[in-house]
Amino acid sequence: MLQSLVGVFLGFAMAFQSWGFIMPHQNPMDTLILVNKQNKAPSVPLMLVKPNVDPVEEKISENIYMRPDAAAALEKMFEAAEKDGLKLYARSGYRSYSTQKAIYDRKGRQESAITSVAKPGYSEHQTGLAMDFEGASTLGMGLTEAIADSPEGIWVAEHCWEYGFIIRYPKDKGYITGYIYEPWHVRYVGVQASTEINALDVTFEEYIVMKRGERVVYLEQEEMIGEENFADNVFSVSDDGSDAVQSGDTGSGSYGKRGGSTAVYREGMELPDSLRTAQDK
Ligand code: DAL
Ligand code: ZN
Repeated sequence: MLQSLVGVFLGFAMAFQSWGFIMPHQNPMDTLILVNKQNKAPSVPLMLVKPNVDPVEEKISENIYMRPDAAAALEKMFEAAEKDGLKLYARSGYRSYSTQKAIYDRKGRQESAITSVAKPGYSEHQTGLAMDFEGASTLGMGLTEAIADSPEGIWVAEHCWEYGFIIRYPKDKGYITGYIYEPWHVRYVGVQASTEINALDVTFEEYIVMKRGERVVYLEQEEMIGEENFADNVFSVSDDGSDAVQSGDTGSGSYGKRGGSTAVYREGMELPDSLRTAQDK
């Protein structure tokens, strides 16, 4: 199984650098949904729960909601780290369109933000499957590459696949993912996929092509998405962000607390302030 995947990958590897791709028909509830610079996050009501883990600080504790399957896996991963003597903290999980917009309005116009901040509607955080974490030894430093060399960051990089997570933006893979190394951003894909991705040592984009290549629509890029110039491969949407706007994306979904009652909000209703708060990344 893995060998046939590698075979497909090798045939594709050379072509990858000059092509981006879109996935036209994704199931929004699929744990393998692809969201990146070419693929918008779907605008669908989501069931979100708050994982029973410690937030970086109490005042951002409403920023760590995730889809229930991802939240349960996150809890297991944080518990396992703690058993190994390492304390992890959650910083940022689900982000609504409006939260992404607030972050983008604050940071997105900086040149460096092209490879670190998603345009509104294009953040994987909108799926409820992503979490930014920090560890005790870098706490207070924010989301920094120092996490990669910290005991907690090293532990997560080594073990996250066991719980169904991947490091979504690996080092030196920005020419494929579109983003700089983010050792703090884990993405839930389920244990089967995370096991395969770990064994193959590939990015999520490459994995999706291997698994679902027949559904991929390749986009010819004007510029090469080469490693040396991936920063120039800006966004596939217009610069004023006009086609980044998704209908009904200003607040539809549901959220709740694990083990408690579930609050549901529907399209058109205001998100609670806590879920609107702009976060650091
Ligand atoms: N920093 C990641 C790419 C985001 O903005 O979703
Ligand atoms: Zn993130």
